[in-house]
Amino acid sequence: MSERAAVRALAEQIARAAGALQRSRYETDLQVRAKSAAIDLVTEVDHACEALCIERIRAARPGDAVLAEEGGGDDRPEAAWRWIIDPLDGTMNFAHGYPRFCVSIGVQRAGRSEVGVVYDPLLDELYAATRGEGASCNGRPIHVSAVRELGSALLATGFAYDVHQSEDDNLDHFAAFVKRARGLRRDGSAALDLCYVAAGRFDGFWELKLHPWDVAAGNLIVEEAGGRCSDFAGRPATGDGRETLASNGHLHEQMMELLRRGRRR
Ligand code: IPD
Ligand code: CA
Ligand code: CA
Repeated sequence: MSERAAVRALAEQIARAAGALQRSRYETDLQVRAKSAAIDLVTEVDHACEALCIERIRAARPGDAVLAEEGGGDDRPEAAWRWIIDPLDGTMNFAHGYPRFCVSIGVQRAGRSEVGVVYDPLLDELYAATRGEGASCNGRPIHVSAVRELGSALLATGFAYDVHQSEDDNLDHFAAFVKRARGLRRDGSAALDLCYVAAGRFDGFWELKLHPWDVAAGNLIVEEAGGRCSDFAGRPATGDGRETLASNGHLHEQMMELLRRGRRR
């Protein structure tokens, strides 16, 4: 087995284990705290999932760097392999008993995404991609949709945790797309939103102010499923997530055009 294949197998194993933990604590009593804002939540399950992921990576691959959302990793830019982890994407949903959340694990080699794994524990759906090898859900190949018109498209977006304070709040774009798309969802897990674009369930997704752990796995899964990921101006995604636009490719220019017309950009 190549080193990359071993990394993917480990990522899948870890994602399933963290997902099992999420499943076991779903709709149980949780300690919920606020982080950067009153609406930015974290629970003990976010921390437990992160600890599980990091422990297993350290045990199997002690030389690898880890960037993890809750801060438990040790990110070393000089490391050859770098894991980027959102231990629980969709914490608001999880805390409210809304059944849409996941664990997201992206792995880079020398700064380039090589492996992406996202696991939805309630639907038992494991999305995965290895660069150059396509994307899959539970082992079956997935592809983006063939939709070519916004009027026939189901899109998704999300809002950053500073939405109460910031004027750069995505409401301008939201209003524009509501008027043009067939449908629009705000479902609370950016990593799953990206996987749904990859699987052809959504035709496009955009969001502002995401972070590397939200997009590290999902962007690769979209691209390997035949889709396109960029910033709002069409520049290839860098992985920082600050402007995330993902689509089936056909809708990209139309989405960019609407995003350009937004109030503040
Ligand atoms: C959040 C979710 C949500 C998105 C937020 C993210 P978290 O991640 O992905 O869909 O709208 O911007 O921060 O906090 O649940 O890991
Ligand atoms: Ca997240
Ligand atoms: Ca998270």
